Amino acid sequence: MPGFLSAVREGHNGLILRIAAIAALGGMLFGYDTGVISGALLYIKKDLGAGTVAQELIVSSLLVGAVLGAALSGWSARRIGRRWTKVISGTVYVVGSLGAAFAVSVPMLIGFRALLGLAVGTASFVSPMYISEMAPPRIRGALTSFNQLAVTIGILVAYLVNFAFSGVAHDWRWMLGLAAVPGAALAVGMLTVPYSPRWLVQEGRESQARDVIERLRENDEEADVDAELEDIRSAARETGRTGVRALWSPKLKPLLVVGLGLALAQQFVGINTVIYYAPTILSATGLDAGGAIGQTVFVGVTNVVFTIAAVLLLDRVGRRALLLTGTAGILVGLAALGVFFLVPGVQQQAPWLALAALLLYIASFGIGLGPVFWLMISEIFPLPVRNVAMATCTIGNWAANFLVAVTFLSLVELISRPGTFFLYTGISVLALLFFWRKVPETKGRSLEQIQEQLSGRS
Ligand code: BGC
Repeated sequence: MPGFLSAVREGHNGLILRIAAIAALGGMLFGYDTGVISGALLYIKKDLGAGTVAQELIVSSLLVGAVLGAALSGWSARRIGRRWTKVISGTVYVVGSLGAAFAVSVPMLIGFRALLGLAVGTASFVSPMYISEMAPPRIRGALTSFNQLAVTIGILVAYLVNFAFSGVAHDWRWMLGLAAVPGAALAVGMLTVPYSPRWLVQEGRESQARDVIERLRENDEEADVDAELEDIRSAARETGRTGVRALWSPKLKPLLVVGLGLALAQQFVGINTVIYYAPTILSATGLDAGGAIGQTVFVGVTNVVFTIAAVLLLDRVGRRALLLTGTAGILVGLAALGVFFLVPGVQQQAPWLALAALLLYIASFGIGLGPVFWLMISEIFPLPVRNVAMATCTIGNWAANFLVAVTFLSLVELISRPGTFFLYTGISVLALLFFWRKVPETKGRSLEQIQEQLSGRS
């Protein structure tokens, strides 16, 4: 099975790459808006006089908005389609970013961050769904993971913007407001790309669906437009119940367990304690604030580099191998952080160990669980329930994200820093066992073939 680069070299038309790049702008904003607040908060705190609770609300209102956004977009991706849902989310990004940048009070800022959350939750769900529905099977892993790559780039850009605007007049306002630019590009860009053929078939607009598939597969010698359309048609014909309750049917439950298991594990291994609190963790190793923020940029770069590696490898070595190896690396990184903070001698003799462990951790997440979760939930569910199932997993992921973000600092106080890292280590052991036993390989098959195999298995 050819990898991403060779598939591109073999002459895939530029349309599919352009679609993935535009749709992934939603992912970039997801990364930017979640990453930017760590630095901006330092200035907001002073400027708007935000106390601890107000600060927590400023950070977490976005996560609550994202839970709602994921729920709403599950409905709208079916009703008005993936494309219009993304146009609207781009517009909300613009309004939310400008509103937050011009906020004159804490409640106003919290309100606009919650609004931004709606767009973030929507993007996190509709971008991978839309891309995976447009991509040819053999490079679907790479293209869909463009979105996760964009998330990591967004986080890195946020860290760099924080760094660049520190101390500049209206610092935090610039940091938050700049996101309006890619937001506008997303809204306008989505007007120039086609509808998802799977959505068109569901709407009974088959000739349009055929046109889109023909355009998408131009120059692709392996493509068989008739077969692809027939697969989509027969998957869409499988009617029956399509609401949340349908997910508990004996046929679908095993798929939901895999999707939700990945969703919760992705957050409960503690990824966002690193993304949101890396400077805090690093300053606990004795670095001053400047040094800690500088090293945080390393964390951002490593995340991007290893996600690029994942994009190149997912369709070559498969999802499972990367997921299992990555989770093993996460486990080792977390255990090393626990040991670092537990044993005082280590802190003195090997001060570099904390950064090394953090980098191992983030590299392992970047190559495995980061992209594989979003990719898999866009692959394993049959068309009639795809919206509701993906939305359920995405909601679970954001809710777990919220839970980890609001408990991390208190957990450190309650069970100490090493205790907290060992807790996350324990969770990654469970996650590894779960992935080993339950998560199937989906590389190189059409979405319809995957679901046939998985339901047959259940
Ligand atoms: C996760 C986010 C996380 C990001 C880090 C995403 O896949 O869903 O919660 O912040 O990866 O790269």
